[in-house]
Amino acid sequence: MNIVVSNVKGGVGKTTTAIYLASAAVARGYDPVLLVDSDRQASSAEWMEASPIEGVELVEGPSERTVVRAMTKHEGLAVVDTPPGDERIVRAAIGGADAVVIPTRAGGVEFTRVAATLDMIPNGMPHGVVICAARLGTNDLVETIEWWTAERVPIWGVIPERVGIASGPESKLYREGLDAYDTVLRKALRKRWQ
Ligand SMILES: Nc1ncnc2c1ncn2[C@@H]1O[C@H](COP(=O)(O)OP(=O)(O)OP(=O)(O)O)[C@@H](O)[C@H]1O
Ligand SMILES: [Mg+2]
Repeated sequence: MNIVVSNVKGGVGKTTTAIYLASAAVARGYDPVLLVDSDRQASSAEWMEASPIEGVELVEGPSERTVVRAMTKHEGLAVVDTPPGDERIVRAAIGGADAVVIPTRAGGVEFTRVAATLDMIPNGMPHGVVICAARLGTNDLVETIEWWTAERVPIWGVIPERVGIASGPESKLYREGLDAYDTVLRKALRKRWQ
């Protein structure tokens, strides 16, 4: 089973989402859990080096060929972090996905940007957006939720903006974040794409 975390836009929360989903999968008893980093910037790989997560094995796959190989070789659960901007790698990863998680932010300009990622997802492949670093109680968030609902794009999670999540590998994974991402994981696992 491969869960691909993707949004061709940069800096939305892909790596954070991939790390937290992998950790949530371990907590759910998945073994082995693979974290495939297909971004040449290697942010997931660096995070795992600085702060390893027990039960998560990191595999680097920074090209179309290597990401596909990493995604087809294993028998467990893999979470795949993808690079911003590199449509070919993103396409290759989505090609091997069972579900696609699309991290995004609240705010109007984000909608059109997610469309580029949505266009790459084949009909029927389970997918959902995750609103990252959300400011709870703001109009922006309410409007964003209404927008995705009207567009019939499932919202798999709303992750609040927290210093404990923003600190990345500098500190332990943040409990509230793990709980919120467990909900996302549950949704991604619900259906299997054949
Ligand atoms: N829930 C959150 N609360 C606060 N900060 C967050 C949250 N989620 C992500 N961030 C912050 O947003 C920034 C971008 O996150 P991240 O690196 O995960 O995005 P990315 O999409 O992987 O970026 P890139 O496109 O460069 O790979 C980081 O500084 C991260 O700490
Ligand atoms: Mg990243």
